Amino acid sequence: MSDDILSHRASVQGIVAPGNQEIDQVPEIQSLRPDCLSEYIGQAKVVDTLKIAVEAALFRQEPIEHVLFHGPPGLGKTTLAHIIAHEMGGRLTVTSGPALEKGGDLIGILTHLEETDVLFVDEIHRTPKAVEEFLYPAMEDFAVDFIFDKGIHARSHRYRLNRFTLVGATTRVGLLSAPLRDRFGLFRNLDFYRLEDLVHIIKRSAAILSVTINDEAAQSLAERSRGTPRIVNRLLKRVRDYAQVRGDGKVDNPAVEAALELEGIDSMGLTRLDRSYLKTIIDYYHCGPVGIEAIAATLQEEADTLVDVVEPYLLKIGMVIRSSSGRKASEKACRHLGYAMQE
Ligand code: ADE
Repeated sequence: MSDDILSHRASVQGIVAPGNQEIDQVPEIQSLRPDCLSEYIGQAKVVDTLKIAVEAALFRQEPIEHVLFHGPPGLGKTTLAHIIAHEMGGRLTVTSGPALEKGGDLIGILTHLEETDVLFVDEIHRTPKAVEEFLYPAMEDFAVDFIFDKGIHARSHRYRLNRFTLVGATTRVGLLSAPLRDRFGLFRNLDFYRLEDLVHIIKRSAAILSVTINDEAAQSLAERSRGTPRIVNRLLKRVRDYAQVRGDGKVDNPAVEAALELEGIDSMGLTRLDRSYLKTIIDYYHCGPVGIEAIAATLQEEADTLVDVVEPYLLKIGMVIRSSSGRKASEKACRHLGYAMQE
């Protein structure tokens, strides 16, 4: 492992839970995550934007403007929030939209933030409306407005907060209300990673985990990771286990093939759920078009899971086509799944 990586690992910032208690980081999960923008692989434009924002904010001794990341799961939204906190020398408080059930849950967190701290709100589109309304003055004026009494006796009291940075993450940017969206200064989409970036991430992670992996195996793992660093790192660990127990501990192509077969991952990186989704459209709905609710009901899955987790990559690689009349399985999907095509 390089000294560089070791020194960053030693200086990882504490993550703070919603009650503002430092929670121990699980060393292995955290250690594969880069702590600095200079270590971050891929998403070059996003990283460049953040480098400029961080440097300018540090120069002016101000917190960086609120940031919204949107895109499919596993592409680095949480990691980037962690990095922003680290680069700014602040702490990271992690919560999520659905966890903020009442205004008090959010106020409890906001009043404990210090200057340069980062509040990360995952799935921010699922924040209840009543809680979201506390976010507006908090983001814009660094203040919370308390309303006492009702009707003509209503009085409000403004409580000042320390200046902080809100990092919001969402898989569904379209569901964000305009007032919330407009309060973010930086607004960035995270896209699926290029193969060469995934290979680079695999090699970096393998070095941290002290795993020997050859180029061929790194390439085939990258090709079967749905363009997603979180998947790359998870599969690398499964292949490492396999190589240690059934092989000589080194990760090569036969170990990748065998371990991924056990995981139910096919030659294109599709999971069992991806294949069931496509087969449902093909078998039950004659290749479509069919609405998402019908597919979800047939699969007995949440429609949200299909929209957030399954569809983005299948759309990206042209396995599914979305139109106003519903979803259609493409010819490529039929061929991949071994259906005979009519001439
Ligand atoms: N681990 C997970 N995502 C990463 C990234 N984008 N760069 C480096 N290491 C990573």
